[in-house]
Amino acid sequence: MLHSRIAGIGHHVPERIITNDYLSTIIDTNDDWITERTGIKERRFIDPEKDTVANMAAKASRMALDRAGVKAEEIEFIVFATITSDYYFPGSGVLLQRELGLESIPAMDIKNACSGFIYALSTADQFIRTGMYKKVLVIGAEIQSTALDLTTRGRGTAVIFGDGAGAAVLEASDQPGVLSTHLHSDGRFAEELYVKDPGSSRPHEERQAEQILDTSGFKVYMNGNLVFKHAVVRFMEVINEALDANGATKEEIDLLIPHQANLRISNYIQAKLGLPDEKVYNNIMRYGNTTAGSIPIAMSEAWEEGKIKENQVICLAAFGSGFTWASALIRWK
Ligand code: COA
Repeated sequence: MLHSRIAGIGHHVPERIITNDYLSTIIDTNDDWITERTGIKERRFIDPEKDTVANMAAKASRMALDRAGVKAEEIEFIVFATITSDYYFPGSGVLLQRELGLESIPAMDIKNACSGFIYALSTADQFIRTGMYKKVLVIGAEIQSTALDLTTRGRGTAVIFGDGAGAAVLEASDQPGVLSTHLHSDGRFAEELYVKDPGSSRPHEERQAEQILDTSGFKVYMNGNLVFKHAVVRFMEVINEALDANGATKEEIDLLIPHQANLRISNYIQAKLGLPDEKVYNNIMRYGNTTAGSIPIAMSEAWEEGKIKENQVICLAAFGSGFTWASALIRWK
């Protein structure tokens, strides 16, 4: 039976560090509020002269390929999770394919926000299990900073998000690496965390109107309280679903890597599962919420720090816009 395993993981974050104190100089907020409500101390914002979603993804990919001992030319398929692709269309997958110089391999974009990386991982896993591809590049990358409303009006979201990219090389294996993935959505809450424009839901005259840029439709709207309440429930459900599907107990999790939405959400899940600090990886303090980038960036850093070792069981879990939520249980091979 065919399985997939993560052969290498990498990440790239922009150089520019944006501290809470800096944000406090441009909007009405402060380090204490941000730290207490979110755990975030700083995040990275791109340099528009230098960074793009695709080129950050390329840097993360090269690191992942190097660590996997796989040449870029061996990659047969790209699955690229982002909600902030470089262009409205085409997606960033083809731009990465071009950056890596990979002629004519397919590239698919996944637009499931904070759950995007797990959706992409699951998609890649299915293609490998059917035998269609043997080596797939799975990406989560995001540039949120240039869409943020960096005024006091936007402070509820402006302090939360950051930029960055992560990549994993998934390859065919006779031993199970990706043990299971579980994906969910509930579109009843689509408008509780969303960016409306440039959507096709507007009538023709509005889509053509120059003034559309003056609307807040291009900015992130988030009903933070509601998102929080759903997140804590769905995270627990989908982690338990992963454990049940594998006949595993929470004690068997060696490292939980939750999507880095908010440190309070991570702490809540940790307490509910009764996991010690060393079994939960968080880096939101340094990067904020990088949406689809958050899980692969965290996984790559945890690996670098020696917190992911051969044969360990790693649990990934995410919740975000859609609402969507997802989990993956992985044996590190
Ligand atoms: N700085 C200072 N004050 C701020 C602020 C900021 N950046 N943002 C909001 N406030 C103020 C509000 O105006 C409000 O003031 P008021 O009481 O005078 O009206 C007060 O702080 C509380 O706002 P509220 O939105 O209720 O705070 P909260 O405790 O819910 O925290 C979030 C806000 C966004 C941190 C929290 O809801 C959250 O983390 N939600 C989940 C978000 C998430 O995970 N999103 C990503 C999902 S993938």
